[in-house]
Amino acid sequence: MKAVIIYESMFGNTRTIANAIARGFGPGSEAVVVPVGKASPELLDGADLVVVGGPTHVHGMSRASTRKGAVQTAAKPDSQLTLVPGAEGTGLREWFAALGRENFAAAAFDTRLDGVAMLTGRASKGIARLLRQHGFTLAASPKSFLVTGDNRLRPGEEDRAFEWGRLLSSKVVAMKLAAGSSS
Ligand SMILES: Cc1cc2nc3c(=O)[nH]c(=O)nc-3n(C[C@H](O)[C@H](O)[C@H](O)COP(=O)(O)O)c2cc1C
Repeated sequence: MKAVIIYESMFGNTRTIANAIARGFGPGSEAVVVPVGKASPELLDGADLVVVGGPTHVHGMSRASTRKGAVQTAAKPDSQLTLVPGAEGTGLREWFAALGRENFAAAAFDTRLDGVAMLTGRASKGIARLLRQHGFTLAASPKSFLVTGDNRLRPGEEDRAFEWGRLLSSKVVAMKLAAGSSS
């Protein structure tokens, strides 16, 4: 099973979760983790699953303006946050805009503040919608991983991401088996 995990991340939380999801796929799968700025559409060739994740910005997926806001937050003298390499580049919206139609399995995740999703918003909802619009079949419901008020991942979130990776991997293997037995 080949999985491609594409993430957008400014402060590193979504990148950490992407790597933990990949570890959950285990040695029987090939899982590559790629930042959105380096994710060409050809990367998806031959993949069985694409997992796409990004930070929640202003209740949804990031935009150029919100990414600028994140850069300004990190630059404040009292900030403990550092930007990940490539953070100032393009985001998932731009990646989707360059993507054609696909017909395999996908899943969406985000990182966001710990709180009621109706109040915080969640980028994974928008990511899932775009995945469906591009022809993907969602292998799981959109998933959020939570950060504290100072933008640090809550304890245990990496473990949750690892388990979600394991679950996704077994779901996609089952989907492939079912497709194989019906053809
Ligand atoms: C400009 C900006 C806007 C944000 N807006 C929201 C929001 O509306 N809801 C929320 O839950 N979190 C919001 N956050 C918090 C981020 O979703 C959270 O820190 C996330 O883990 C950042 O991911 P990253 O470390 O991969 O960049 C915002 C952060 C920034 C910088």
